[in-house]
Amino acid sequence: MRTCAAAKPNLNLAVLTAAVLALVSLPAFPVERCAQCHPSEVAGFRATPMAHSVSLPGPEPAGKFFHSISQTEFSIKDHGSTLDQQITRGGLSASYPMAYAVGSGAHAISYLIDVSGHLFQSPLCYYPRRRQWGMAPGYENSPAPDFYRPIVPHCLFCHAGRVLPVAETVNGYQNPPFAGEHIGITCERCHGPAEAHLRHPAPGSIVNPAKLPPPARDSVCGQCHLSGEAFILNPGKKFSDFRPSEALEAVFSVYVYKSSRDPKHPEALTVISQSQQLALSECARMSGGKLWCGTCHNPHHLAVHPEAYYRARCLSCHGAELLKTHPKPDKNCIDCHMPRLPVTNGGHTIFTDHRIAIYTPQQIAAGKNFAAAPAPQLNKGPGAGQLVPWREPPHEFSQRNLGLADVEVGERVKSLAMIQRGYRLLVRCLPRFPNDPAVLTALGQVLLGSHHDSSAEAMFERVIQVQPDNASNYLHAALASKAAGDDAKAIDDLNRALELDPIMRQSYLELARIYEEEGNAAMLRQTDERYAAAFPKMLDARRQLGLKRP
Ligand code: HEC
Ligand code: HEC
Ligand code: HEC
Ligand code: HEC
Ligand code: HEC
Ligand code: HEC
Ligand code: HEC
Repeated sequence: MRTCAAAKPNLNLAVLTAAVLALVSLPAFPVERCAQCHPSEVAGFRATPMAHSVSLPGPEPAGKFFHSISQTEFSIKDHGSTLDQQITRGGLSASYPMAYAVGSGAHAISYLIDVSGHLFQSPLCYYPRRRQWGMAPGYENSPAPDFYRPIVPHCLFCHAGRVLPVAETVNGYQNPPFAGEHIGITCERCHGPAEAHLRHPAPGSIVNPAKLPPPARDSVCGQCHLSGEAFILNPGKKFSDFRPSEALEAVFSVYVYKSSRDPKHPEALTVISQSQQLALSECARMSGGKLWCGTCHNPHHLAVHPEAYYRARCLSCHGAELLKTHPKPDKNCIDCHMPRLPVTNGGHTIFTDHRIAIYTPQQIAAGKNFAAAPAPQLNKGPGAGQLVPWREPPHEFSQRNLGLADVEVGERVKSLAMIQRGYRLLVRCLPRFPNDPAVLTALGQVLLGSHHDSSAEAMFERVIQVQPDNASNYLHAALASKAAGDDAKAIDDLNRALELDPIMRQSYLELARIYEEEGNAAMLRQTDERYAAAFPKMLDARRQLGLKRP
């Protein structure tokens, strides 16, 4: 059959087209089909927060919130079919319908808006436990909050079943942005593609995470529950390329501070992920890879009686022998050994200490006090400022990926030492990755940051040759040209960026800055108009327009 089709290209094309059509007309995979044979897994999973990690907004209560730092007033209206958020500052106001809610509401719910097929995050979150609206994490100290923080695909990779980004944009998505009817996390995120299993439903025809070797097994949960300082994709990969049964490093590597891997480090508390905390525990370190997330969590069934449920999990390893010598009381193991941690407001704090350690009663009491605690500083102690991969990437990418992580984190925390180390690593591996957009862009950014403007320009031009349709590349090139004193080239590149992606705030701002410096009032006015047309509701864009009105 195969050879026959290959010999007749037309037939081959017809077969391919039919296959593609079949794929397109089938939704991701209908969970109803799993329910025919696995009703308890389907019903059980549907009852978990993970199944509702992204949803349509509502019903949240109407409310108001005043952000005093920026003197911004927010009001929230639930019209039944839509949830609207209104922002008012300095006499201007705008109202946005929320497109999606991120977070099941265990701690916080964040909201997304859709601007011409681009997703942005609302500056507001709803905090169900306190029944309050408040600023979303990261917006707390914003001098002028608005609806313009782009939602990158990585965000939805961790929260949605299957997200459909538009390639080479920062935050453009297909319409609708999610595949299938169920937009929250789906079976296939942990079990992989199901076609073979549906044809031949038997053990072994679909991934069972519990049966995988430890790195692949841990990667299933680690896709989303392993956080770090930097997530570096291998060349040519996107997050959605990951398939359960492989190790994450086949697609991306996560970089953490070396100090955060030290079990003796006193501050490794809330700012690291469950995966990192668990790995620090003596239980994990001394049990030879036996302990993993699935030892204690069954993703299809929430623990109904946590105390008894987790006690049985602990005793499955520690055995009833332990209780002969263990001090009393010994009923609620997790109350003493996995206490609640002091919480901050954010969506990404850990609430249960996954280091499974011995604590003083004072430490345990501190965790029960739900006052917002300052985030601990991890970048201290031995190994501070030194990034290491969570697991080594394939050998050929180890220098590249570490170099990229160093530059990214170095720029974020303003560490010259990290940036320099990253730069040296990337320069050394450039001959092996001469056309790698990530490497070229990082080198360009370091060069620009150290005022080697024309070298930076050259680097970004190389990226454009490799990826001529990526709007961000033209923005980078424009910044370098501007720094090198070539305004005309910068203007061309910014216009090209906006042609490719008109919903790109920074490009308008840079363009306006150049015209303003040049004193070109007519072009400044025109740029402001374009900006306001792209973001018709954004307060800054409208204010700019008002101020410049002759
Ligand atoms: C026609 C019945 C049928 C359907 C439909 C079906 N399965 Fe299964 N599944 C089975 C049988 C039979 C087994 C093997 C017996 C067992 O372990 O219960 C199995 C086993 C599994 C296993 C364990 C595999 C292993 O090697 O341990 C997973 C995971 C699984 N199914 C997931 C799914 C998912 C996800 C869907 C929906 C896409 C699905 N199944 C649809 C019948 C079905
Ligand atoms: C596709 C990303 C993703 C994967 C894969 C994933 N999780 Fe989650 N998980 C989340 C998100 C997001 C939440 C928060 C859900 C919410 O409240 O909005 C969560 C919540 C949880 C919770 C707390 C609430 C609940 O539903 O019980 C547990 C426990 C959990 N995950 C365990 C696991 C385990 C174990 C695995 C691996 C077998 C896993 N997760 C795989 C994204 C993921
Ligand atoms: C690396 C994966 C990952 C990324 C990226 C990520 N999240 Fe999460 N998020 C999680 C997990 C896992 C949880 C569950 C709590 C935890 O373990 O910290 C969570 C929790 C949350 C919560 C609280 C959910 C609840 O029910 O209380 C919100 C809100 C949230 N995330 C929003 C976002 C937004 C918005 C983005 C992108 C701008 C984002 N997250 C990016 C993995 C991720
Ligand atoms: C967050 C990850 C995750 C999601 C999502 C998930 N599963 Fe599972 N599933 C697992 C893990 C882990 C196991 C292995 C449990 C064990 O044996 O410890 C498993 C096992 C199974 C099994 C085998 C049960 C057995 O007793 O051997 C079936 C069937 C199954 N899952 C079906 C589903 C279906 C259907 C869905 C979607 C409704 C789903 N799962 C969603 C993680 C997940
Ligand atoms: C996969 C097996 C396994 C599971 C499950 C497990 N442990 Fe452990 N744990 C170990 C091993 C191995 C050690 C090393 C010392 C030893 O052998 O007792 C350990 C050590 C400990 C220690 C001593 C830590 C220290 O810092 O001195 C405590 C406390 C502990 N476990 C509590 C628990 C609790 C509570 C649970 C359940 C929430 C649990 N463990 C679940 C394997 C496990
Ligand atoms: C030794 C048992 C154990 C292991 C192993 C374990 N957890 Fe947990 N986990 C717990 C307990 C206990 C809670 C608190 C449950 C409760 O409050 O009802 C919890 C809570 C959570 C929550 C809810 C948020 C929070 O911090 O309370 C998430 C998410 C979670 N675990 C993810 C994971 C992931 C991912 C892994 C693997 C890296 C993992 N857990 C491994 C015992 C465990
Ligand atoms: C009231 C708090 C408390 C409870 C409940 C508790 N522990 Fe402990 N646990 C401790 C303290 C305190 C120590 C340290 C004892 C010492 O140093 O002699 C300890 C020590 C341990 C150790 C290490 C020392 C040893 O004897 O090997 C393990 C393992 C352990 N606990 C497991 C458990 C398990 C499993 C449970 C539930 C069945 C549990 N603990 C319940 C407070 C508690």
